[in-house]
Amino acid sequence: MNVETPIYITTPLYYVNDELHIGHATTTIYADTLARFWRACGRPVLFLTGSDEHGQKIHKAATAAGTSPKAFADTIVQKFFELWDALDIQYDVFIRTTDDFHKQAVAQLFTRLRDGGFIRKDNYNALYCVECETNYTEKDLVDGKCPIHKTTPQQVSEENYFFTLSKFTQPLLDHIAANPQCIVPEPRRNEIVGKLKEGLNDISVTRTTFDWGVPLPWDKQHVVWVWWDALVNYISALGWPNAESLPTDAIAGRSRHGHETSAAPFAHWWPSAVHLVGKDILWHHTVVWWSQLLGAGEKPPRQVFAHGWWQVEGDKMSKTLGNVIKPLDVAGKYGRDALRYHILREGPAKGDADWRQSAFVARYNSDLANGLGNLLNRSLNMLGKYFGGVVPAECAFDQPALETSRLSLIARVNALYPRLVAAVTAFDLDAACEAVIELVRETNAFVNNAAPFKLAKDPARAKDLQASMHALCQVDFVLCHALRAFLPDAAVRIANQLGIKAEGKLADCIAWNKLAAGHTTSRPEPLFARIEEAAEGKPSTKP
Ligand code: MSP
Repeated sequence: MNVETPIYITTPLYYVNDELHIGHATTTIYADTLARFWRACGRPVLFLTGSDEHGQKIHKAATAAGTSPKAFADTIVQKFFELWDALDIQYDVFIRTTDDFHKQAVAQLFTRLRDGGFIRKDNYNALYCVECETNYTEKDLVDGKCPIHKTTPQQVSEENYFFTLSKFTQPLLDHIAANPQCIVPEPRRNEIVGKLKEGLNDISVTRTTFDWGVPLPWDKQHVVWVWWDALVNYISALGWPNAESLPTDAIAGRSRHGHETSAAPFAHWWPSAVHLVGKDILWHHTVVWWSQLLGAGEKPPRQVFAHGWWQVEGDKMSKTLGNVIKPLDVAGKYGRDALRYHILREGPAKGDADWRQSAFVARYNSDLANGLGNLLNRSLNMLGKYFGGVVPAECAFDQPALETSRLSLIARVNALYPRLVAAVTAFDLDAACEAVIELVRETNAFVNNAAPFKLAKDPARAKDLQASMHALCQVDFVLCHALRAFLPDAAVRIANQLGIKAEGKLADCIAWNKLAAGHTTSRPEPLFARIEEAAEGKPSTKP
């Protein structure tokens, strides 16, 4: 992996009809982890998120709330900002589909497609699910209901504009065959290829029955279908088609990180675009979106990664069942690193996943409290006691078995960076965390074996004590850096206790002997308090 090439990471734009839940937070936390990791590697990163504000669904929600769609969106989007701030999501760009520059780009794209001969007028008779903002054929429905929302779709009949999606079946199949990594993981790619092989139908891409959307430039009776509008955000945010810079003025104040500027942002970032989405919107992000791009003479993004869905304690997560997990409830109770860790370890990256309180507590206690927290705390306490908090010089153990375990730790530390890069490149954030936790486990075993607390009592073992404490300081340093993307708060707290900064390129920090002898550390403090099962009430009774 060349860590010098830019990467443009995007989340879906979430609908502003409701509060966000753990499903939305999952995609955003995956994206934030990727962004932080690659930035820490020194890779140029642009991380975009935002809000999807047009369409029937928002119109309906605003009407129910007795307000205008824009006023409604303004209120909800404020909650998005609060949530992402509370979770310290460091996006560079937050785009709203009601931003003027975005609406102009949508109109331009549509005009290009018309000029390219891909738009025609026709009668539209369809089954439309407002929740999905997507139409279905009878064949797609399950017992006459939307397969995702289990609701009866609306019967829609109107004259509107169609996009000749059918023309793109073969170009899409060719593109996927030539770029096997463009949809990951592989089963998701197979799913899309399977659907493409069935052939594509033209789709209706405008509406006349309501007006909350981007007006069609040449026929203002029509507004653009909300998906067509929203997908364009990924390029309108880059100033497509011809802006010389990112629309920073228009989105001033919304960045939580501060991107690197580039003179021709579309040319710079678009070839390295990676969309993170949930499985339910993979179709839109591949077939629909890529056809729009191909029709407009642009290339599809480099990659789309689609994750699965959370269930909760074995049930579908839904308002009706009252089991919706709210990210801030979890973060407020256990800390945002605990929330993030659970999502990275147990989340639906490869397939669907089940949010279980018992698994949350078990994972937290074993890896964070008893594993990482305990290691850091006992190593820094011993360093304080035996060396006044000052890192001793490196030396080998006199005892051969201990020296072998020290060499094994060194080997594990030096192998960690390439392992992390490989795992993150493959979107396997669970494996990346596991690589770090394996180092924690091996080091805790090393402490138990070397037993510095016993060595300290025997002056004849002074060298072995020094060897063990030097090694522990090196591991603590490496853990701090290795965790910057995965447990950002813990990384900063470890850095404070070590008296260092959680900064610098990972390749230079995740290696042996980077914490110099003679360096003075700070006061140790517990990192993660154990969650006591008793305080949690009844554990889940489900199998
Ligand atoms: N507005 C569209 C996206 C447009 S992008 C140009 C949209 N918005 S959404 O608010 O409905 O958010 C959808 C995202 O949340 C999807 O990625 C979806 O997979 C994710 N999730 C919704 N429920 C989920 C779970 N129970 N579990 C995991 N993710 C889930 O679609």
